[in-house]
Amino acid sequence: MKQWLVQLGQRYLSKETRRRLSRYASWPPVGWVRWGSLGRLRPISPDWGMERGSPIDRYYIERFLAQQQADIQGKVLEIGSPRYTHQFGGEQVRESVVLHVAEQREQVTIIGDLTDGENIPSDTFDCVILTQTLNAIFDVAAALRTVYRILKPGGVALITVPGISKISRYDMDRWGYYWSFTTRSMAKLLAAAGFSQERLHIQAYGNVLVAIAFLHGLAFQELNQKQLAYHDPDYELLITIRATKPGSKNESRTDE
Ligand SMILES: C[S@@+](CC[C@H](N)C(=O)[O-])C[C@H]1O[C@@H](n2cnc3c(N)ncnc32)[C@H](O)[C@@H]1O
Repeated sequence: MKQWLVQLGQRYLSKETRRRLSRYASWPPVGWVRWGSLGRLRPISPDWGMERGSPIDRYYIERFLAQQQADIQGKVLEIGSPRYTHQFGGEQVRESVVLHVAEQREQVTIIGDLTDGENIPSDTFDCVILTQTLNAIFDVAAALRTVYRILKPGGVALITVPGISKISRYDMDRWGYYWSFTTRSMAKLLAAAGFSQERLHIQAYGNVLVAIAFLHGLAFQELNQKQLAYHDPDYELLITIRATKPGSKNESRTDE
């Protein structure tokens, strides 16, 4: 509000009148917000917008993996399925390894827990793709130590974690859904696991509009490029990390 108006108010209006008027000082004033389609207690889609298009977090995850495509090569470990190994690594991938914590599904090559890393050999992988998984592991610090240990020297971990998110009921009812992260908590966790600051590239995506849309289960196709691209550092919806283990391999980033 204009300074002269505030000063005039302070001189001539009572404290109570000033308090009442302050409700109209921001736009829209208190009581005037129109919720439209969003004014409901249940989300528009409880299934991340799958039936409307593609989930908003996947928009950022897949753009990140496309940017880091050159890293997805050689021997690659992914969690749950080889979906992104094949989608982004293609012919560059010599061997695809899929880790699952509990279920021997088709395409799963190792049953194992990242927390103890028991069945997973050290200094083995050129690339570890760890998308939306650390939120489902209680002992995140131990899981990241395993990721560091199993990477070859110079190997790259491509990690994504949720910031502002609803809970995945599917994960919660099986192995658990424990955490949401920030760029800061990820930086600390990765440093504690052995990754040095110079070899970490951490990026957050999101803004208030994208966060509301994601929580309501709108699809990314319902937002435009400008809305998806606008970055507000106070609304970390999705965090991406490229972390390199020290070693001799070429460490140049594909988007630099
Ligand atoms: C939401 S899925 C994410 C994986 C998938 N690649 C993706 O991008 O959506 C969560 C995964 O965490 C895995 N998970 C849960 N606890 C784990 C643990 N302790 N060690 C390894 N994987 C674990 C589950 O097997 C599940 O596949």
